[in-house]
Amino acid sequence: MSIQFEPTSKTGEPAEISPLPSWKNEPLLRVEDLKAYFFMDEGTVKAVDGVSFDVFPGKVVGIVGESGCGKSVTMKAILQILEGSAKIVSGKVTLRSRINNQDPNSPEELLELTQLHSNSRQMRKIRGAEIALIPQEPMAAFSPVHTVGSQIMETILLHQDVSKKEARQITVEVFKAVGISMPEQRIDSYSWQLSGGLRQRAIIAMALSCNPRLLIADEPTTAIDVTTQAQILKLLRKLQEERQTSIIFITHDLGVIAQMADEVVVMYLGMVMEKGSVQKIYKNAQHPYTQALLRSIPSVQSASHVKLPTIAGSIAHPFNRPSGCPFHPRCTFFMRGVCDASQPALVRVEEDHFVNCFLFTENSSAPAEISVQVPPPMEKSL
Ligand SMILES: Nc1ncnc2c1ncn2[C@@H]1O[C@H](COP(=O)(O)OP(=O)(O)OP(=O)(O)O)[C@@H](O)[C@H]1O
Ligand code: SF4
Ligand SMILES: [Mg+2]
Repeated sequence: MSIQFEPTSKTGEPAEISPLPSWKNEPLLRVEDLKAYFFMDEGTVKAVDGVSFDVFPGKVVGIVGESGCGKSVTMKAILQILEGSAKIVSGKVTLRSRINNQDPNSPEELLELTQLHSNSRQMRKIRGAEIALIPQEPMAAFSPVHTVGSQIMETILLHQDVSKKEARQITVEVFKAVGISMPEQRIDSYSWQLSGGLRQRAIIAMALSCNPRLLIADEPTTAIDVTTQAQILKLLRKLQEERQTSIIFITHDLGVIAQMADEVVVMYLGMVMEKGSVQKIYKNAQHPYTQALLRSIPSVQSASHVKLPTIAGSIAHPFNRPSGCPFHPRCTFFMRGVCDASQPALVRVEEDHFVNCFLFTENSSAPAEISVQVPPPMEKSL
């Protein structure tokens, strides 16, 4: 379950542990064919139905898809915080975890998270100290009856060997790092005393307080106004660059993904439809669903009076999943007897680019009839 690996130099002596260039090429987190279902009296909801992706050190993976496609449940399954009747039914999640998370140069171990009990000591150490979550519901992040500072200090004391005084100082520092003014005073506020933007910064501070190597940001800007949204995105990007934290960035907004991500995973009804580098997805999207999503985002070239196309039809009810390809009832390339008969598999169409559609086979280029013009990605600078 846990394989410790300490790199050795060519002479066989233990080498300097981290960062080693070769390790940069190994994923920090690997999710393989993950399936998590809700077993309810009314039926089974296959919320996550075979999701695979890698997160590399210091990289941002954007996960995009319409509401209900399984973005949040995938993250909860990785962190083993699934609610109620939900269970991981198969698949594997592997993390390269620091043995001593207080030491940036600590040797690492490969942990198969799917083999750990959700309440195990190792899993509790991972949540917060190795992988931190910015939850989708901002009000759920802090208890209203304790100050935000005391809650952040509690997390620091749980994961780090420091005194209360030091934990308070770390909290002040992390408040400063996320751009909260008057941090000494603000840490003694309750979450409901903070504006939406400040609360979101405090949530990010909480997530960063134990220096995690992977940050999961689940729709981190939905509850705030557009100006603050841009500031929060800029802050996340800056922190990621300074700290080399890997981020899984979840949103339904492909425009935001273009600004934030290095890699993109497009999900639909619990499955990965397409994944690849941000350049491949924006310049050479292949899956009919990704293309439809891209057509529906405004670009700088869109005329203000032109109505953007929407995706025809609606997402199937979770108890009533279509047979075969889950996108087939909405797909303009639907092939009767093929797309509704069985499920396609994710195939590699080119380097760093995978598509889950019967129109494609391994290393195949795009059929001419499916090639469309999509809006260019926005500039990365915010
Ligand atoms: N507690 C629950 N009980 C039953 N079904 C659930 C529960 N939570 C989520 N689901 C179902 O699991 C599926 C995936 O939900 P999930 O929350 O992961 O979607 P999402 O992609 O995060 O959507 P959104 O963009 O709205 O946040 C949906 O069909 C949803 O209805
Ligand atoms: S498999 Fe068929 S229905 Fe599904 S996206 Fe491809 S063409 Fe469309
Ligand atoms: Mg969600």
